[in-house]
Amino acid sequence: MLVIETAEALKAHLRPLQREGLRVGFVPTMGALHAGHLSLVEEAARHAEVVVVSIFVNPTQFGPNEDLSRYPRDLEGDLAKLREVGTSVVFHPSEDVMYPPGHQTTVQVAHVTQGLCGAHRPGHFEGVATVVAGLFGLVHPDVAVFGEKDYQQLTTIRTLVRDLHMDVEVVGAPLVRETDGLAMSSRNAYLSPEERLTALSLSRGLFRARDRYAAGERNAALLIGAAHAELDLAGVQPEYLELRHATSLVPLERADGPCVMLVAARVGKTRLIDNVILRRPS
Ligand code: PAJ
Repeated sequence: MLVIETAEALKAHLRPLQREGLRVGFVPTMGALHAGHLSLVEEAARHAEVVVVSIFVNPTQFGPNEDLSRYPRDLEGDLAKLREVGTSVVFHPSEDVMYPPGHQTTVQVAHVTQGLCGAHRPGHFEGVATVVAGLFGLVHPDVAVFGEKDYQQLTTIRTLVRDLHMDVEVVGAPLVRETDGLAMSSRNAYLSPEERLTALSLSRGLFRARDRYAAGERNAALLIGAAHAELDLAGVQPEYLELRHATSLVPLERADGPCVMLVAARVGKTRLIDNVILRRPS
């Protein structure tokens, strides 16, 4: 496994392999890796001979009052985990490599970034789209894997790739949970034991809605109400709890087609997100 820190070294390593016809799979991350991230790396390895993982805590996707400075960092631990899942290259650029002096281009995806996290994190998806477009320009991946954990982000990247005619296949990978249901997240490290119990109300609520859906309920308000009841019991006030179309992310009143229920809430100071796909797009 090679650890590369500069754009020049990354291109010098990858382009000859690509000219030989090897496929490159790419997993962008911000590090503090857990089993959810590693499942993406394994998925990339199923699609490509060369697997590149980036570790870059991207400052432009954090708001001024967010957790950029205290975002968990553990490069040595991350490298050990990545070695075990068959990573070929770890790209670990500095801020200057991704945003050299004079950098002035940003990428805005209009509609799917509105509402949900976009409403509570102004500029967040512009930061994500910009860094991912830059990383794609450096790596030239054939396949890029993103987690369904960040459902709106995955939709944003699919839209970016489609609209800018990028030759990248975007693969969504299933959300990985702890055994008790909590969606795995680097930010779970912030939770106290007590907060962690409270945080379980997010997945419990979504599972309740999923049970109601499985029993035939299609009314969005009732499905959302079922999830909300679990949050109420735990004293959690969500930032949003919504039913959306699974590909367009348009708000829905009925769960008749492909749809996803998404939630975000603060538990203590920690902002958590989760979702369940009630029906996958075919
Ligand atoms: P990060 O939060 O590190 O996540 C990197 C990738 O791991 C994302 O595609 C995310 O959806 C996926 N992931 C995180 N937790 C997961 C889980 N429990 N199950 C499945 N996949 C999970 O998302 C980012 O970084 C950044 O925004 C990034 C795309 C790297 C751009 O900076």
